[in-house]
Amino acid sequence: MHFDAIGRVPGDPILGLMEAYAQDPNPRKFDLGVGVYKDAQGLTPVLQSVKLAEQRLVDRQGSKTYIGGHGFAEFGRQINALVLGADSPLIAAQRVGATQTPGGTGALRLSADFIAQCLPGRGIWLSNPTWPIHETIFNIAGLKVSHYPYVGSDNRLDVEAMLAALRQVPKGDVVLLHACCHNPTGFDLSHDDWRRVLEVVRSRDLLPLIDFAYQGFGDGLEQDAWAVRLFANELPELLITSSCSKNFGLYSDRTGALIVCTRSAEKLIDVRSQLANIARNLWSTPPDHGAAVVATILGDADLKTLWADEVEGMRTRIAQLRSSLLQALEPHGLRERFAHIGEQRGMFSYTGLSPEQVKQLRDSHSVYMVGTGRANVAGIDATRLDSLAEAIAQVCK
Ligand SMILES: Cc1ncc(COP(=O)(O)O)c(C=O)c1O
Repeated sequence: MHFDAIGRVPGDPILGLMEAYAQDPNPRKFDLGVGVYKDAQGLTPVLQSVKLAEQRLVDRQGSKTYIGGHGFAEFGRQINALVLGADSPLIAAQRVGATQTPGGTGALRLSADFIAQCLPGRGIWLSNPTWPIHETIFNIAGLKVSHYPYVGSDNRLDVEAMLAALRQVPKGDVVLLHACCHNPTGFDLSHDDWRRVLEVVRSRDLLPLIDFAYQGFGDGLEQDAWAVRLFANELPELLITSSCSKNFGLYSDRTGALIVCTRSAEKLIDVRSQLANIARNLWSTPPDHGAAVVATILGDADLKTLWADEVEGMRTRIAQLRSSLLQALEPHGLRERFAHIGEQRGMFSYTGLSPEQVKQLRDSHSVYMVGTGRANVAGIDATRLDSLAEAIAQVCK
């Protein structure tokens, strides 16, 4: 039969973890696995600002006809301003354009095919570790994928090793950088580190691709864009993938953008013609609903203020959970050992727990996290921090 030779591939390990968690009958279980934000009730709610924008759309939307290959123009304008700043000189010079994509993943896939087709022969460099889907997306597009070190054996950011490796990257290659809230480690570069990376990028003539999936979850909406704006202002060309999944809570509506910065307005037209052509063969035209919601929120002063407050609420809850966990670990003499949890940013923490300790946490205490020791801090139930700390202490004995 036609399908007889087709074997089975293992499922996504994080989704497998979700299933195992769902099947665990222990009522005192912890889900620190999948990377979605959770509120104090353990839910991933629809934001109030999103609900209000959706209500307006239901009332006003007159058609569901296709939107163009680059998506909804107003969404593109708003997302450029959110990422680069409304007063960005690139926007004024028409050197930047956003192509609406199905989530940040769609933006990464579009950039992978763009590099493969329009910049043939360029390899791509990913941090070690990185979000596993980076590995597969660029491989599938046929790019040569290589890695630069990011975290040392002491489970701390190793900027010197990162810079040393980047200095050896072949001229012209693409380097993928996480704008903030590095997934999976939670370790972010300081402003000084970013300036040093910029110098290497410049001297090796590298093309940066900045993945911006967590704007607002690190230090704030504006603060998290600092490195992206530095690179956009200092370099002639840049690729940015932006996701609205986390900061607008629009996970299932698949909303994101590939933002391209070019050295001239004229060149932008060329590049965008290629992107529209590639996107046409990937998903034809992007899904509209989430982008319409984002454009509605960002285009209305009151909704925007409400949304920014909601993002700030999510951000501060995560930051608070980090410090509360450290406090809960203190009586066990573990505060020092896990001090990095307080320094990391965003939802994720490379805890430094070994795969054996992760397994023991899951088997004996129903605490679910990724085998690498990555925990989703946003999944912590703040009312049960003491029992989580107790479980961690047990496996650290
Ligand atoms: C680093 C990183 N990039 C991109 C994405 C893509 O997000 P989405 O496709 O859900 O918008 C994620 C989501 O987990 C991520 O962690």
